Amino acid sequence: MSRGRFIAVVATDNSWGIGKGGRLLAHVRRDMQYFRELTDSLPVIYGRKTLATFPLGRPLPGRRNIVMSRSGITVEGAEVVHSERELMRTVRGRAAVIGGGEIYALLLRHCSKVYVTRFHRDFSCDTFFPNLDDSDEWALTGVIDTFTATESDSVPGMKCSLLVYERQENE
Ligand SMILES: NC(=O)c1ccc[n+]([C@@H]2O[C@H](COP(=O)([O-])OP(=O)(O)OC[C@H]3O[C@@H](n4cnc5c(N)ncnc54)[C@H](OP(=O)(O)O)[C@@H]3O)[C@@H](O)[C@H]2O)c1
Repeated sequence: MSRGRFIAVVATDNSWGIGKGGRLLAHVRRDMQYFRELTDSLPVIYGRKTLATFPLGRPLPGRRNIVMSRSGITVEGAEVVHSERELMRTVRGRAAVIGGGEIYALLLRHCSKVYVTRFHRDFSCDTFFPNLDDSDEWALTGVIDTFTATESDSVPGMKCSLLVYERQENE
């Protein structure tokens, strides 16, 4: 069981952009709730630069955190793995890949589903998720919901969609 046992969870703009200047694009409460629902019960895997974007630079509470770094850092509350090979040995079951750009690109081949929150905007990003619409290996299989960001979100009025992409097994 090595191919496709992970899911990826990501928020992108219209151009598959995911970040700018080391930061997320927007804070939308509904998206954060959805992220929690999808990942709460799973180990989460992410890159060292994404760790730096979390509150106080700390791992997410209440689940197994695996940080990828080639360096010798230690992170309280997380396991650090230094290569894809070490990761695949360390995480034996299902897990959620949660960013950022380098780690999504590295681990997409181990994912069977990608949960995309699409922000219907262009944010002039400097970091991207692979464009699944351009890939024969991936198909959009579900639109869970479409909603509008509220006044308490960082981009009020922005249209958002919760999309599911699945790996096509017809290769
Ligand atoms: N929109 C979203 O859903 C979302 C989600 C997460 C993050 N983001 C955004 O994405 C951006 C960060 O992404 P990023 O691509 O710059 O960084 P990243 O993927 O979070 O982390 C990159 C780091 O991971 C480590 N790494 C990469 N490949 C590795 C390998 N094969 N083995 C071991 N370690 C490896 C390296 O750490 P060392 O340098 O320590 O060796 C590298 O510097 C930010 O803007 C963030 O806000 C967006």
